[in-house]
Amino acid sequence: MGVLVDVFLILVYIIYTAKAGEAKDLKWEVEYKRWSPDGKESVVIAINGKFPGPTIRARAGDTINVELTNKLPTEGVVIHWHGITQKGTPWADGTASISQCPINPGESFVYTFKVDKAGTFFYHGHYGMQRSSGLYGMLIVDVAEEQTEKFTYNDEFHILLSDWWHKGAHEQEVDLSSKPMRWIGEPQSLLINGRGQFDCSLAATSSSESAVPCDDLEGGEQYAPHILHVVTGKTYRLRIASSTALASLNFSIGNHKLTVVEADGNYVEPFTVDNIDIYSGESYSVLFTADQDATQNYWISVSVRGREPKTPQGLTFLTYQPTSEKQLPPSAAPPVAPAWNDYVSSKAFSNKILAAADSPPPPTNSDRRIVLLNTQNTMDGFTKWAINGISLSLPTTPYLGAIKYKLMDAYDHTPPPDHYTPDDYDIMKPPPNPNTRSGNGIYELEFESTVDVILQNANTNSVEVSEIHPWHLHGHDFWVLGYGEGKFTDKDAAGFNLKNPPLRNTAVIFPYGWTALRFRADNPGVWAFHCHIEPHLHLGMGVVFAEGGDRLGNIPNEALTCGLTAKYLMNKETAT
Ligand code: C2O
Ligand code: CU
Repeated sequence: MGVLVDVFLILVYIIYTAKAGEAKDLKWEVEYKRWSPDGKESVVIAINGKFPGPTIRARAGDTINVELTNKLPTEGVVIHWHGITQKGTPWADGTASISQCPINPGESFVYTFKVDKAGTFFYHGHYGMQRSSGLYGMLIVDVAEEQTEKFTYNDEFHILLSDWWHKGAHEQEVDLSSKPMRWIGEPQSLLINGRGQFDCSLAATSSSESAVPCDDLEGGEQYAPHILHVVTGKTYRLRIASSTALASLNFSIGNHKLTVVEADGNYVEPFTVDNIDIYSGESYSVLFTADQDATQNYWISVSVRGREPKTPQGLTFLTYQPTSEKQLPPSAAPPVAPAWNDYVSSKAFSNKILAAADSPPPPTNSDRRIVLLNTQNTMDGFTKWAINGISLSLPTTPYLGAIKYKLMDAYDHTPPPDHYTPDDYDIMKPPPNPNTRSGNGIYELEFESTVDVILQNANTNSVEVSEIHPWHLHGHDFWVLGYGEGKFTDKDAAGFNLKNPPLRNTAVIFPYGWTALRFRADNPGVWAFHCHIEPHLHLGMGVVFAEGGDRLGNIPNEALTCGLTAKYLMNKETAT
C-alpha cells in the first residue's frame, strides 16, 4: 500500500513538473523619454526605451519575473499586472501604499508572479498618475501547452487603447489637486498601440493648444498607425485592452462584424456585433473574418463614449494582401460610433456579455452585501470623489506589510460603512451637503466568504450630470449579476442573473444606475477596488478590501522599506 502511494506521488510529481510552466525572466528599465505619441512631441514613461512598454507573452502556468529598475530621476514607481490574481504573491500586485512601497529612483524590485489563466491582460503604473504618463503595455497569456482555445482563428493582432494629453501628468496632478480644482479636460488624442494623430489644424484654434506646432510631421515613425494586414478568407483574433486614463471607447472596423469571445480573461458566450464598447480596465478578444472586397482598405476607428467628445477618432486601418499600403487612405469615411450619450446602446452591449455555456455558476448566496454610493464632493474647497462619504487617501505604509506585522498605527482601523446614509439619499440631485472627509480605513472580508458589492451611481456636484465609472477589482474576478436603473433596493436582488453572469475584473456603472457584483474572498492579501478613471481614483474614488490576513506568506523586505514597515524591519534587525 505504502509503495503504491509512493509510486502514485512520484507519478503526480512527474506529471505536475512536466506541466508546470516555464519561468520568463525580464529586465526592465523605466525612464522618462521624449516621444511623439500623436505627432506632437511630449514626454512619456518608457520601458527599455520604448513606448508603450514591451508586450509580455506567456502560457498559463508560467511564472513571470520582472526585474524592474527605476530610472525616473526623482520619483518612485510601481507596476500593476491588471487582471492577474496574484494568488500567493499579493506583494507583487504593484499598487503603491497597498501592496508595496514605491521603488525608489535608482533601485530595483523583482515582481514574481504566476499567470494561471489564459487571456488578454495588460499592465500599468499604479502610483500617482503614472498611467497617464504612458506607463503601460500588454500581457498576453496563451492556454497551457496541450490545451486548446474554445474557438479557432488563423492569426491574431494586439490593440492597446489609451488616451493622450499634451499636458503632462504632473501638471494634471497639480491641477486636480488645486483649489478650486482645474479639470484636465478631454484628451487631445486617442492612441492605438501608442500611436495617434493629433489634429494639427486644431492647434491654432483651440485655446488649450494655443498654437502649438506639431513637431516632426514628416517623420512619423513613432505615431504612424500600425496597419493590420489580412488575407482573404482568414479569421483573426483581435486582443483589445483599454488603459485609458479617462475615455470610454467604442471600437469598430468598417464593414467587418466582430464576434466577442473573451472578456477580461474569461470566455463569454460568443455574440456578433458591428462595434464594441470598451471601458478603461477592460479587455476583449473579438474574432473577425477577412471577407470583404480585398481591393479596398477599411478604417479601424476608436471613438469617445459617455462624455461629449472633443477628441478626434483614433484611427488605423485594415488592408488585404496583396493590396499595397500606398493606395491609402480608405475612401469611405471611418465608421460612425453610436452617439456619445446613447446609453441605450451601451447597456444593450453590456447586457449581451454572458458567461460561456460551460462556465461554473456563481455561489447562489452571499454572506455580506456592501453597497457603495459614489458622490462628487468638496473638502475644504477641494474637489473629491467619495464612497459612502469617505474619499480614499492612501497611507504612507503599505497595508499589506502593516497587516502582516500588525502595525496598528499604519492606517485607520475604523472600517468604512457597508451602506450609505441617509438611506433616502436622492441620487438624482447633487449632494445636499457637498462636504466629505478623507480616510484610509479598509473593508476586512472574512476569508472564503462570498461578498456582494452594489455600486450605486448618483448625480455629481453639477445638476443633471451623472458619469460612467468602470470599477476594477484587484486580486479577483467577480461575477456581474446585473445592471439597474435608479436606486438599488432589496427587491432588485431577486432579478440577479445567477445562471450565466460573466466573470470579469472590471464592470461599469451607468449614469444614475447600479451594478451588482459577487466574488469570493479567497485570496489572502490587500486589494484595491476602484474606478479605473485615473483622475477619479486620484480624487479618492476607491476602497480597499483585505482578507486572509493571517495567511499571508513572506513579503520581500524590498516591498516594505517605507513608513512604519521600514521602522519595523529595522527594529527587528537590531533585536536579533
Ligand atoms: Cu488597472 Cu488598480 O488598476
Ligand atoms: Cu470614475
